[in-house]
Amino acid sequence: MIIRLRPPNEQDFRSPLRSERLTSILGIALGLAFTICFLTGLISHLIQHPPGWFAWPTGPSWLYRVTQGLHVTTGMAAIPLLAVKLWSVAPKFWRRFPTGRARAMIIEAVERGTILLLIGAAFFEVLTGLLNVAEAYLWPFFFPEVHYLMAWLLIGSVVLHVAVRLPIMISALRRRDRRPPPPPAEPRAPGAETTITRRHLLTGTAIAAAVIAIATLGDKIPALRGVSVLAQRSGTGPQGLPVNRTAAAAGIRADQVGADYRLALVGTRTVELSLADLTALPQRTVELPIACVEGWSQLATWTGVRLSDLIGLVDDHDFTEARLASFDAGPYGRSVVASALARHPETLIALRLNGEVLDHDHGFPARLIAPNRPGALQTKWLSRIEIVR
Ligand code: HEM
Repeated sequence: MIIRLRPPNEQDFRSPLRSERLTSILGIALGLAFTICFLTGLISHLIQHPPGWFAWPTGPSWLYRVTQGLHVTTGMAAIPLLAVKLWSVAPKFWRRFPTGRARAMIIEAVERGTILLLIGAAFFEVLTGLLNVAEAYLWPFFFPEVHYLMAWLLIGSVVLHVAVRLPIMISALRRRDRRPPPPPAEPRAPGAETTITRRHLLTGTAIAAAVIAIATLGDKIPALRGVSVLAQRSGTGPQGLPVNRTAAAAGIRADQVGADYRLALVGTRTVELSLADLTALPQRTVELPIACVEGWSQLATWTGVRLSDLIGLVDDHDFTEARLASFDAGPYGRSVVASALARHPETLIALRLNGEVLDHDHGFPARLIAPNRPGALQTKWLSRIEIVR
């Protein structure tokens, strides 16, 4: 027998479940998910790279925990939506390109180009996001930079796609074709039979999205830990708190954080404090979450010195920000604390975690802990705090 291979064409896709209404409903759900991801991602970006006009509030302390948790969970829950949406439009990928009228050809080429961008950017965002939270850094580029640029490309192509398809979407949604088409008078061609309805398909997709969400939420909501089989870090790590960057990974040497440790405070005067000096200052205890940029978060009890008390030791004037430096020479070894957060009574230079001296991997001897701030900016292994007017 000779099998002739040829590319598929539109007629090869026979499932009667596909319809413009089904595609429109899936498109709305996916568009919503991508918009949530885009907005929450943008918030995370702005907090880490604040332009002059942007001021992130100092509270509630759980706000970033919620926005970034929503980002990662929504992104993951979007995977089945993306898969079923692509399945619903699969025949269109094999539609014959119009020939003849130049205008029709140009419009078709632009539309196909936009859709190609949309699909490429969507796959890129979801795949790199997933691998990033799984700590599989398989690429040579700096993830947040490229993920951020692709997010603009994705949201731009979504807006363009919706603008072009809006009339079709509206008329498809007005049509009440919720049930699959009635059985034809003649028997269907092989492959065109179905035992499920569009409603089954939509419900199944929604359940898959919900299962993925619940399977990952345990790394933010302790009550779900037992069922969250995909949650990356839940209650693990030294002192019961997960760690993303260990002291070894950050290249922290024993002599830097040993008996000769000094924290330099630089304001109108400069003071160097040993760990004993820091411990002798008034100590405060706060309950604050570590909310990782990778979506997991966990509440913990921190004890240490108020940053505002330390600033008071070296500067009596108004200041705009405090610049923190760490023995970690990597990208997370520096951060800026704006004056409102630096003055916040819960912003501490923490020395203890959950009743014990900080573990090395949690930033021993001293680290920042402040409300409503990404974990990547809660700088560990502090070496210097500079007060800037
Ligand atoms: C499974 C899906 C996704 C996952 C797991 C994921 C994960 C992440 C993670 C871990 C970050 C923090 C990066 C960092 O600061 O180190 C992030 C940031 C971001 N994400 Fe996603 N993401 C997903 C989908 C998306 C989608 C669909 C969009 C856009 C529509 C998006 C837009 C952004 C933006 C704008 C940022 C900020 C990047 C920056 O800080 O410069 N993400 N995402």
